[in-house]
Amino acid sequence: MSLQEDIAVVTRVNGPVVTASGMGRACLGDQVEVGNEKLTGEIITLEHDVATIQVYEDTIGLKPGEPVVSRGEPLSAVLGPGLLKGIYDGIQRPLEKLREQSGVFLGRGLNVPAIDPDSTWDYEPALKPGARVAGNTILGRVQETALVKHAIMVPPGIEGELVWAAEAGNRRAGDPVARVATPAGEREVTMIQRWPIRRPRPVSRRLPPRVPMLTGQRVIDFFFPVARGGAAAIPGGFGTGKTVTQHQLAKWSDVDIIVYIGCGERGNEMTQVLEEFPALKDPRSGRPLMERTLLIANTSNMPVTAREASIYTGITMAEYYRDMGLHVAVMADSTSRWAEALREISGRLEQMPAEEGYPAYLASRVGEVYERAGRVEVVEPAGGAVREGSLTMVGAVSPPGGDFSEPVVTHTKRFVRAFWGLDRDLASARHFPSIHWNTSYSEYDVSAWYAERAELPWSELRRRATDLLKEDDRLQNIVKLIGPDALPDRQRVVLETARMIKEAFLQQGAFSAVDSYCPIEKQLGMMDVILSFHDGAQKALASGRPVFEIMSAPVVERIFRMKEEVGADQAADRLAQLKKQVSDSLAD
Ligand SMILES: Nc1ncnc2c1ncn2[C@@H]1O[C@H](COP(=O)(O)OP(=O)(O)OP(=O)(O)O)[C@@H](O)[C@H]1O
Ligand SMILES: [Mg+2]
Repeated sequence: MSLQEDIAVVTRVNGPVVTASGMGRACLGDQVEVGNEKLTGEIITLEHDVATIQVYEDTIGLKPGEPVVSRGEPLSAVLGPGLLKGIYDGIQRPLEKLREQSGVFLGRGLNVPAIDPDSTWDYEPALKPGARVAGNTILGRVQETALVKHAIMVPPGIEGELVWAAEAGNRRAGDPVARVATPAGEREVTMIQRWPIRRPRPVSRRLPPRVPMLTGQRVIDFFFPVARGGAAAIPGGFGTGKTVTQHQLAKWSDVDIIVYIGCGERGNEMTQVLEEFPALKDPRSGRPLMERTLLIANTSNMPVTAREASIYTGITMAEYYRDMGLHVAVMADSTSRWAEALREISGRLEQMPAEEGYPAYLASRVGEVYERAGRVEVVEPAGGAVREGSLTMVGAVSPPGGDFSEPVVTHTKRFVRAFWGLDRDLASARHFPSIHWNTSYSEYDVSAWYAERAELPWSELRRRATDLLKEDDRLQNIVKLIGPDALPDRQRVVLETARMIKEAFLQQGAFSAVDSYCPIEKQLGMMDVILSFHDGAQKALASGRPVFEIMSAPVVERIFRMKEEVGADQAADRLAQLKKQVSDSLAD
C-alpha cells in the first residue's frame, strides 16, 4: 500500500496517547498499527503530517522511532453471523480467542477477527438474480443461534441489480453470497460486513417511539416506561442498584437482542458480569440468555481508550441487528466510567478542561451516544418489504456521592426521556429497586398502546397512583412534625394506601422466584386492587366505620402479599377476585 511509503514514526508516548509524524497520507479517524508490536490505535487529531493517536492497548515499552502504519479505514466493527454469544473487548476482539492465543494476560498487538471467516453457516437465500437491491436488503438468512435468525444484508452504500445469488447450503462466512451490479462496477457481498463504529448506520425512516419496552419491573413499566427506541438513564450513587437493575432489564425486557457493555472500573464488577451472564437463562425460552446477547467487557488491564471506544462498538453491533428488523436493547454500565475515559484522554491531549475537568465536548459526545437510539423503519427498494426495528439505549450513571447535579448526569438528562433515579435512602432501607418516584420521570407517551392492549385503564390508574404518592409526600412532612395520629382519618387512609403502593407495588425483589418479573396484566391488576382498597376505605369512613378497623381488615395483609402469592398465570383473574374481596370486606 502506498500509505506505507511514508515513513511514519512514533515521536512521543504519553500513556495511551501517542504522537506520530510522517502521517500526511492518513486521514482523521483512521485505524493505525502502532509500533513494532502493531498495537491498534485510532487517529484523533491530525495537523499537517503530525497525528495524535489513541492506542487501545498498553503502550509500555513503546518507543519513539517505532513505525506507525495506517490501515486506511476508520475504526470499524465487523458484522455478521457468529457475533451472538460473544464476549468482546472495547475494540471487538473476542476475549475467549485472545485468551486462547495469549493466556490469562491479554497479549498485545493480537489481531483476532470478531468473526471467523472460516466459520460455516447453513445459508437460505431470500432473493433471486434480477432483483433490485440496496443497503440493508435481505439477501438470505442463517440460523445464528437457536433463538435468533440472522439476516444477511447488503451493506449500506451498495445499490444495484443482483446478478448472482448463492444457492442454499453450507457456506463459509467469508465467501461471497451475492454479486451486485452497481454503477461503479460489480461488487461482491459476503456474510461479513464492516461499519465505522463512530458513524450511525443509515436509516430509511424514523418512527416515533410509542410502544413500551416492557421490562416486567413495575416501577418502570407502570410509572416510568421507556419506549422501544427510546433512551433511559439509571443514575445512582455507589451500591444503589444500577447493576442489578441493568441485569433485570437484560433478562426480562421484551426485546430480541441484548447488547451489554460493561464499563466497570473495578475488576470484580466485570468478573461478576463474565460469570453471571453465561449462566443466565432466557426466561421465555429456557435457553441460555447468551444466545441472544452480546457482551462487551472492558477488562481492567486495557487502557481507558478502549473503554471510550467500547460504547460505539456495542451500539454499532446493536444497529446492525436493528436493521434486520429486530428489537435491541443496549445497556451501558456505567457511562460515568466512559465519561472518565474521555476526561483522561482529554487531559493527556492538554485540552482546556470544562466542568469538573471533563472536556467541553462531553455534552455533545453524550448526545451522540443517546441519539443512536431509535425506532426505525427499514424500507427495501422497489416496493420490497418494510420492517421495523428498534434500538433502546439504557445507560447507568454513577455520579460521585450520588450527586445528580454533576456534569455526566445533567448532560445525560438532556438526551434521555426516561430517568430512573436511584435513591440512597431507599436502598439503605432495602426498598428495591431504589428508583425514587419523586426524582424519576418518563416523557414517553405509551398510553395509546395500553389503551389498545390492556383490559384495565393504565393511564387512569397511573394518574391516580401518582396523585396519591404526591399527596403522601406532602402529608409525610406534616407527620414528621406532629405524628400521624393528628391527621384527619381521610388523610390517614391516604398514608395507608401510599404505603401499599410503595411496599406492595413499587418494591420488587430481583431475586424473588415469583416476583422478579411481573407481566403488565398483573401490574395493572395489583394497582387496581390497591386503588379499590382506597375507594372502599374512604366509603367505609364516610359510613362511620372507625379507621383502625379499616386498617386492620384481614384483606390488608393479603394486599401486601399479593405480589408473591399471585403468579404470572391467570394473574388478572385472581387479582379481580381479590379486588372483589377487598370491596366486599370494606362494605360489610
Ligand atoms: N431490585 C433489587 N432487588 C433486590 N436487591 C437489590 C435490587 N437492586 C439492588 N439490590 C441490592 O443492592 C446491592 C447493590 O446493587 P448493585 O450492585 O446493583 O449496585 P450498583 O449501583 O451497581 O453499585 P456500584 O456503584 O458498586 O456499581 C445488590 O447486591 C443487592 O443486594
Ligand atoms: Mg454496579
